[in-house]
Amino acid sequence: MPEDSALDPAASNPTPSNPTPSPATASSPMASNPSGEDLAGRVRAALAAVQDPELRRPITELGMVDAVAVAADGTATVRVLLTVSGCPLRTTIVDDVTAAAGTVEGVGAVRVDVGVMTPEQRAQLKEGLRTRAVPFGAPGSLTRVIGVASGKGGVGKSSLTVNLACAMAADGLRVGIIDADVLGFSVPGLMGITQAPTRVDEMILPPVAYGVKVISIGMFVQGNQPVIWRGPMLHRALEQFLTDVHFGDLDVLLLDLPPGTGDVAISMSQLLPGSSLLVVTTPQSAAAEVAVRAGSVATQTGQEVLGVVENMSWLELPDGTRMEPFGSGGGARLAARLSEILGTPVPLLGSIPLEPRLREGGDDGVPIVVSAPDSAAAAELRAIARTLASRPRGLAGLPLGITPTRPDPAP
Ligand SMILES: Nc1ncnc2c1ncn2[C@@H]1O[C@H](COP(=O)(O)OP(=O)(O)O)[C@@H](O)[C@H]1O
Ligand SMILES: [Mg+2]
Repeated sequence: MPEDSALDPAASNPTPSNPTPSPATASSPMASNPSGEDLAGRVRAALAAVQDPELRRPITELGMVDAVAVAADGTATVRVLLTVSGCPLRTTIVDDVTAAAGTVEGVGAVRVDVGVMTPEQRAQLKEGLRTRAVPFGAPGSLTRVIGVASGKGGVGKSSLTVNLACAMAADGLRVGIIDADVLGFSVPGLMGITQAPTRVDEMILPPVAYGVKVISIGMFVQGNQPVIWRGPMLHRALEQFLTDVHFGDLDVLLLDLPPGTGDVAISMSQLLPGSSLLVVTTPQSAAAEVAVRAGSVATQTGQEVLGVVENMSWLELPDGTRMEPFGSGGGARLAARLSEILGTPVPLLGSIPLEPRLREGGDDGVPIVVSAPDSAAAAELRAIARTLASRPRGLAGLPLGITPTRPDPAP
């Protein structure tokens, strides 16, 4: 593995030779008779409904539809170009193309020819994507970036991250997760992701689970090998996740941070200056105490602390009574203390009960908001997700793009 690259071989930035994305050829030599040509146009229009499962853009915009022809007997032939040979989602694309073309009136059978893009076509595709991708760290970015932090490990950061992400995606938001706990990565397991990211040269396409785009160092290591890296490599890994991974436009990007106030938390604040933090604790005093440190990092970095989530708050017993194995009040105390330190209100956004199905869901790779959305824990997680999503993004660092005028005098 080259020294400057955390995610071999995605180290260098390409210098594209042709900045114009190729529009798919409008009339194909395969379409000869006028009515066939007319039908071919309609098939092409119908294919705009097919998205590349990874890039999440219409295949017609990506230059993936090479040619469309409809024969006199109504048989449509569509030539599709995959980004790379051996694309794991080939069957999905072929099925979706077949279904979409079949919806056009006058089309009978559908044949899909599958080809692979030339390096030039791939370069054009990438350039088209790059110019549209929103750099999450840029001042004008509309993506809300939230780091999930805690004082110590084992309090439920990763469980919270994946469940919030899945809940937001189920509500129709475009969501991504970066597993920034590089040394202790756990997100792929929690979401049941075994698929490796697809690479289009230097660009990495994140796998999608439950509608959430996910990237983790766990997708780049063999088996259960440990990642043993020092700070600079951790920084480089996070930087590459942010630059080389194509997330497309996102509403929310969640970062599952390592516990404490280490290198990655600092890197996050540097690479994503407009990002905010969510701090997780258990009700235990000791856990809340160390979480104060993780949250008060924000005084140094200028990040906004969106709120506190208390996890493992109680266990409901069969008779309906609540047992509090970790004590009580840690979340509220942490929120009060952070409000004091940061000089701005930091709310307690919710308290999640202990729920065996939450743990089981993690082990099985199915987050509880998906597997048991009506359980008390999932309901609380969904409510927290909605609170976060409905909060207007902080305006810090955002250009307003308006010229101030004198307000009308109050009536
Ligand atoms: N509310 C909960 N109820 C039951 N188990 C939980 C709950 N929250 C977390 N867990 C379990 O606790 C363990 C630690 O959670 P995890 O999300 O990995 O924490 P962290 O990322 O902070 O280290 C996991 O086994 C997880 O399944
Ligand atoms: Mg974790």
